[in-house]
Amino acid sequence: MHKSTLVVSLAAAVSAHQNLHQFWVNGVSPGYEIGIRRAPSNSPVTDVKSNDIVCNVGGDKVPSGVETIPARAGDKITVGWDPSGHPGPITHFLYGPVDDAAKASGVGAGWFKVDERDYVDGHWANEVMQNNGGNYTFSLPASLKSGDYLLRSEMLALHAAQTVGGAQFYIGCMQLKITGSGGNCSPTISLPGAYNAEDKNIYIPDVYNGFDPTTYSAPGGPVASCK
Ligand SMILES: *[C@@H]1O[C@H](CO)[C@@H](O)[C@H](O)[C@H]1NC(C)=O
Repeated sequence: MHKSTLVVSLAAAVSAHQNLHQFWVNGVSPGYEIGIRRAPSNSPVTDVKSNDIVCNVGGDKVPSGVETIPARAGDKITVGWDPSGHPGPITHFLYGPVDDAAKASGVGAGWFKVDERDYVDGHWANEVMQNNGGNYTFSLPASLKSGDYLLRSEMLALHAAQTVGGAQFYIGCMQLKITGSGGNCSPTISLPGAYNAEDKNIYIPDVYNGFDPTTYSAPGGPVASCK
């Protein structure tokens, strides 16, 4: 009896872990796990001060050996994650322009948030994605300088955020070669650096006891303005 309970709960825990597997630019994908820095496992990052918070475990290793995929400013990006029942937001950040995305570790200053979805109309981003096979679509800023960029997708799972270090960051970085007519984006943040273990959107002592998800906004500051 005990053994089967344990097996079931382990299976549930494993199936809730997740990776980014594929993306589409205006509905066209370069292929399964192409253009993505692949993580060694589907486990979360929990140390927000580690370089792993940038592009998942080992994601700062360059050259990355990953193909860089063309896109244009303003294009629609769809990310395809393993669906997860863990409540939380999804955010996207760009880093660049750089000469060669495959040679950019992404560690340090220069990231800016381009999209954020928190708790809208009674549903966390992960629920909306679960209902959509793990997919989520957003647009790149319309004003960007041409060049290579890292595109970072972050799903933050808050089901264990009642303890410091309990929040689970699932991260996937894509490499894009963006054509744009120019623009400066601000504010920018550093990764690691911008996140602290006790930030109020990462450590939520009352997450099961009075927390109001409608007041929540994801780490990394406001969505940047690009002009
Ligand atoms: C995710 O979106 C892409 C692009 O629109 C689509 O081709 C794919 O079938 C979608 N996947 C799921 C599981 O809905």
